[in-house]
Amino acid sequence: MNHFLDIHTTSQDALREIIDNAARMKAERAGKLKGTLDSEQPLANHMVALIFEKPSTRTRVSFDVGVRQMGGETMVLSGADMQLGHGETIADTARVLSRYVDLIMIRTFEEATLHEMAEYADVPVINGLTNRSHPCQIMADIQTFEEHRGSIKGKKVVWSGDGNNTFASFAHAAKQFEFDLVFTGPPPLDPEPALEGMYTIMRDPNEAVAGADLVVTDTWVSMHDPQSARERRHNQLRPYQVNAALMANAKSDALFMHCLPAHRDDEATSEVMDGPNSVIFDEAENRLHAQKAIMRWCLGV
Ligand code: CP
Ligand code: NVA
Repeated sequence: MNHFLDIHTTSQDALREIIDNAARMKAERAGKLKGTLDSEQPLANHMVALIFEKPSTRTRVSFDVGVRQMGGETMVLSGADMQLGHGETIADTARVLSRYVDLIMIRTFEEATLHEMAEYADVPVINGLTNRSHPCQIMADIQTFEEHRGSIKGKKVVWSGDGNNTFASFAHAAKQFEFDLVFTGPPPLDPEPALEGMYTIMRDPNEAVAGADLVVTDTWVSMHDPQSARERRHNQLRPYQVNAALMANAKSDALFMHCLPAHRDDEATSEVMDGPNSVIFDEAENRLHAQKAIMRWCLGV
């Protein structure tokens, strides 16, 4: 069964198939109203459960719209409203949902929840973000880079900020798509040790971005981080803000990405976010196309 749990555990061939399929399906829809059904209806007669244990705008809407464009039906479930949030085991939830739906997308806290869901479900499971990774986002980001700049292979990508879940999926992608990834951030917020070997560290952000084809950042306080850590994190991360002065040290045509939601003028300035090299809203749009291709791959349709 094709679960989509992480980028490094998905084969290079499958990843390439997904990105190419996403680009093809995007091109086929160009100029059409958002509710127009795709010419192919591979999810006809399919029911998809979208489970959210954390807030979401992009993931929720893009999965829901994507399923409908491909002819399927969705149900959006909040973890707190399910028995899952009131003591039912993940394994039993997975077994029960598998009797009703053909595909499960889950956004959750612990990575173990995702893996247990995948282990006990009889249908494919997609990772819609955990505390440790965010693979659907980075598939959209690869699609976005390639539509602006061609193949990402051999390119230099610099992450400036917190070594968080979104960074982890970039690290997984660096290995599979064969690009160079540099992390620049304060030592207390370094990426988790399991990612070692997938990226290099440079402490000086200005040196790190030299020659960069792409500069990326993300929020300084993620949904799973305690609010009590907010002030400390802001103080640690302020030198790593992506602003015009930092971007001036990257290649002149370096793209800027942020998965959103952003805290404007914290991790990135509005000048950069709204500047000519920013592709943040293309990234957001490509969540739709990339995830449609991921769902097709999972279901083999
Ligand atoms: N980037 C992203 O996953 O956004 P949401 O939290 O709005 O889904
Ligand atoms: N790192 C962020 C990503 C949000 C899409 C978080 O986990 O909150």
